[in-house]
Parts: sequence; C-alpha cells; structure tokens
Amino acid sequence: MFEFCRTYGIKYDIIEKDVMKRILSGITPSGDGSLHIGNYLGAVRQFIELARDHECFLMVADLHALTTIQNKEMLKRNTETLILNELALLEDLKNIIFFRQSDVPMHTECQSILNNVTPLGLLKRAHAYKDKLQKDVMEDDINVGLFSYPMLMAADILLYKPDLVPVGKDQKQHVEITRDIAERFNKTFQKNVFKLPEPYIPEEVAVIPGTDGKRKMSKSLGNLISIFDDETVIKKQVMGTYTDPTRAHATDRGHIEGNMVFTYLDFFGEKQKVEEYKKRYQEGKISDIEVKEYLFESLIKTFTVARERYNDLKAHPEKVKQILEVGAARAQAVSAATMKEVREAVGLTNSYSFFHYS
Ligand code: TRP
Repeated sequence: MFEFCRTYGIKYDIIEKDVMKRILSGITPSGDGSLHIGNYLGAVRQFIELARDHECFLMVADLHALTTIQNKEMLKRNTETLILNELALLEDLKNIIFFRQSDVPMHTECQSILNNVTPLGLLKRAHAYKDKLQKDVMEDDINVGLFSYPMLMAADILLYKPDLVPVGKDQKQHVEITRDIAERFNKTFQKNVFKLPEPYIPEEVAVIPGTDGKRKMSKSLGNLISIFDDETVIKKQVMGTYTDPTRAHATDRGHIEGNMVFTYLDFFGEKQKVEEYKKRYQEGKISDIEVKEYLFESLIKTFTVARERYNDLKAHPEKVKQILEVGAARAQAVSAATMKEVREAVGLTNSYSFFHYS
C-alpha cells in the first residue's frame, strides 16, 4: 500500500493540517459522468491550482445523484465514468484525498443528526427545491432526498471542517445553508463543533460558453468539446464551433470578440501564437479552418497526459479501486473524529457507550 501511495504521489502520513488550509468539494455524477472542457476550465483547473498548496478533500457525491437517478445501471456507469474522468484530469494526488461519498457512512449519519437543528423553512428556500416546484411537480410528489439535498451537502462539508468550499455559482446557496446549519448546531449544543465554511467561486471563468457561443457548455445541449472522446469526435466538435458569422471568406476581416475558437484558444493555446492568429484573423489573413486546426492541436496537446492516464486507469480497475480505498480510509479518519465530537455534543454518548469508529 505504501509503495502504491508513493507511486501515485499520495501522502500516507497524517496530513499537514497546520500548514495547509483545507478545502473540500464534491461532484455529483448526475450527468453521464464525462467531463468536457467547460468543466475543466470552470472547476477542475481551479481545483488543481488550489491543490498545490491546500489539503483537498474531493468527493464523488454518488448519494446525491440518487435524488435524480433511480436506475441501477445508469448510476453505476455515471459514477465509474466520473471517477475515471476526474482521476485522469487531476495531475497528481499529492494533496488530494479523493473518495466516494457512499464509502464514508458518516455522511448520512451526520445528515440525520443535522436534520434536527434545521427548520423546514430553510430547506424550502433552497433553489433546487424551488426550481423543482416550478416545473409543474406537485409539492407532495417531490422526493424527500431532493428536499434534504442541502442537508446531505452540509454534512459532506461540516464533517471535514474545511476553510474553503470551491463550488459553482449555483451551489453558493448550499454553502450558505451549511453555514446556517453549522451555526444553529453550535448554538443549540453550546459547543463549537463545526467550522463555518466559506464558499469559493472562481469568478473569471465561472461560466464557459458552449461551441454555439450562446449557452453554457453542457452535454445535454450538445454544445461541448469533450476531453476523453476519440480524436475524430473532438475534431468534429472543434470544427463545428461558432466563430464570426459575419465573415464569409478567409480574406474578410474577422471578429474575435464572442468568437468561441479564440475564447478557447485564450486558455489552451500558446499566448504568442494566439496573439499572432488574432491579428491575422482581424486582418483577414487566416482562415477559420486554420485557427480551428490550431485549437484542435492545442487541446490534444493540453490533454495528452490526461488522456493517457485515462486509458491506463480504464485498463486497470484495480488501480482505481486502490486510490478510492486510500481516499476513503483518510476521509473516514477525519469524519469519524468529527462524528465523535457530534455524538458527545448532542448527548448520544453516555456512561454506557461503547461504540467507537474503528
Ligand atoms: N451538490 C454539488 C453539485 O451538484 C456537489 C456536492 C456534493 C458538493 N457535496 C458537496 C460540493 C460538498 C461542495 C461540497 O455541484
């Protein structure tokens, strides 16, 4: 196990808690689990950046996915795909504790206790629930899992006492609800068990437009550029990317604002070359195809290592399993310590108690 951890850059000893700030985040395998360049730019990249000098807990929130996916095969497939995609993209796991939510049963236990300090009204204000109500669904038919989604997320977060919680804009409210719940718990039981987390929303690239140049990149809208598909698929997506509709010929002066190929090139291309291409594009001295070819090359170059890692992990499920095992063991150690405090704070622990998390 030790050898394995070393090979994968996983730190096995006790975490350097005093030196590094702790962050925690989660991803729900509610889509098909495959990540596209929008996910990479909007979330994964920042996470990798943060992981350089933070201790990071990153979970695949498979229990959360159950609120919408109630199909065994689908949940299995989506979760496996997401795990592979994430692991392939993360550069190394030196500071990252990567685990699956359902491998750490303390999350549901904690949720169950937090239920008791949470007023109904707080959950009724949650966007996810309100959005669902607006979709012609009868309130009485909404599943309780969806309703208490923020409670599970609060448990996910509070168990680890993170300093920061990197999330997308749409999840900010859930972190606020988490703070509220933590405060209520600490106040009710007069003990500062939980730390109030701060949401961290990377502003600059919060929303990555899709290849249609209009809406946020998403698989369901089909306006994506994928990372782990065959090169032919990626090429097709790049070639179909929205550029400048006013430009009919390569000799016409082109616009780069709102031109998705350049938007993506700003992230994936070499700065100098991109500047040169922009200039030539505006002067009508380069074709759309050439610029797109360059975007394609840049993407493949950026993701070469990740794509190799993806294939390797896919071919070796035992490696993936071991990473998850190490991650779960470390997540369990941290969350068990918090649960011990929780049990004591609420009075579940008494003179006859014998239970302990092993
Ligand atoms: N609900 C989050 C999402 O859909 C995923 C998530 C689950 C999460 N648990 C979390 C994010 C804890 C941050 C912290 O994006």
